[in-house]
Amino acid sequence: MQMHFAMMPSRVLSVGVQLDLFSRLADGLDRVPSLATAVGANERGLRMLLDALTALGLLTKTEGRYGLTPLARTHLVRSSPDYVGAMLENDDIWNAWGHLAEAVRTGRPVDTVERRERAEAFFPMLIRSLHVANRAPAERLAAALCAGSVRASRRVLDVACGSGVWSIALALADPTARVTAHDFPAVLDETRGYVARSGLGERFDYLAGDLNEVDFGTDRFDVAILGNIVHSEGECSSRALFARLHRALRPGGRLAIADLVPNEDRSGPPAALLFALNMLLNTERGDTFTLSEYTAWLRAAGFARVDTVDIGLHIGTNASAILGEKSPGA
Ligand SMILES: C[S@@+](CC[C@H](N)C(=O)[O-])C[C@H]1O[C@@H](n2cnc3c(N)ncnc32)[C@H](O)[C@@H]1O
Repeated sequence: MQMHFAMMPSRVLSVGVQLDLFSRLADGLDRVPSLATAVGANERGLRMLLDALTALGLLTKTEGRYGLTPLARTHLVRSSPDYVGAMLENDDIWNAWGHLAEAVRTGRPVDTVERRERAEAFFPMLIRSLHVANRAPAERLAAALCAGSVRASRRVLDVACGSGVWSIALALADPTARVTAHDFPAVLDETRGYVARSGLGERFDYLAGDLNEVDFGTDRFDVAILGNIVHSEGECSSRALFARLHRALRPGGRLAIADLVPNEDRSGPPAALLFALNMLLNTERGDTFTLSEYTAWLRAAGFARVDTVDIGLHIGTNASAILGEKSPGA
C-alpha cells in the first residue's frame, strides 16, 4: 500500500512548487484565503494541499496560520540560492513515468533528453537542482583530487558540465587550476552564470558541442570529470568516451566519474535501479552500471588504475566516485 501511494507526496510537493506556494509563504502570506488569492487556487483545495504539506514536514501550522520549515525555506523558495524546485516546475519526468509499461514493452524511450534540442530545453532547469545536490560531494572530490598533489597549473576538463558544479569546486580548491567546461551551447550559457557568480570567470574556457563529436585533444588535461552523464549515454558511447578521455589526459592524469552505481548483482540499492528505469524512459541507451563494469571499461580504454573515493555522493545509493588513472609513463 505504501509503495502504491508513494506517488502522492511526490505530487503534493510538485504542485506546491508549481503554485509557487513556498515563495508566497516566504512573502508572509500565511492563511488559506490570502494564499488562495495569491496563487489563484480554490480555498478548499488549497487548504487540503497546505495540510498535506504540513503533514509531510514542509510547513508548520499554528492556529490556522501556515509557515515554512527550515528545509522548505532553504530549498523550495524560488529566490533562495539553494532552491531545488526547478526540476519540479514542469511535469516532464512525471509524464514520462506514466508511460513506463509502454517503455518496458517496447524498450523504447518516451523522451530523449540526450539529444541536443531536447537537452537544451530540459537541462537548464535540472542543473539548478543538481548544482545544489552535488555541491558538497564536489567539494569532497576536489579535496581528494588535490590531496598530496604538487602539480601546479592543473588543467581540468569538465565533460557535460551542466552548472559546472564539479569543476567550480576544483577551481576553488586549486587556485592554479584552469578549466575547460564542455556542454551543449545553450547549457554553457547557464554555466557561465554559475562560473561568474563563483568569481572564476578568468579561469574557465568553454567547449560547445555533442560529447560524441567534439575533439578533446591529446595529452591536454590532468583531470577529466564525468558527472552524471554515463547513465544517459549508455555502454557503447561511454566506452568510446573513456578512450577519448584517456587520450586527452596527460600521463598520470585522472578521470573522475560521479554516477549512480548499483551493487554487483543489480539487486539494490533501490535508487540506482529505479534510476535505470528513468533512463529507459528518457534516453535511447541509458542505464546504470556496476563498479565491475566501470572497472573493466576503464581498463579496456587504457587506464592503468581504477580506484574509488568516498565523497558522500548519492543519498540512498553509492557514496563513492570512481577514479581512473592514466599510467604516469603513458
Ligand atoms: C544530468 S546533467 C549533469 C550535469 C553535471 N555534470 C552534474 O553532474 O551536475 C547532464 C548534462 O549533460 C549534458 N549532455 C547530455 N547529453 C549530451 C551530449 N550528447 N553532448 C553534450 N552534452 C550533453 C546536458 O546538457 C547536461 O548538462
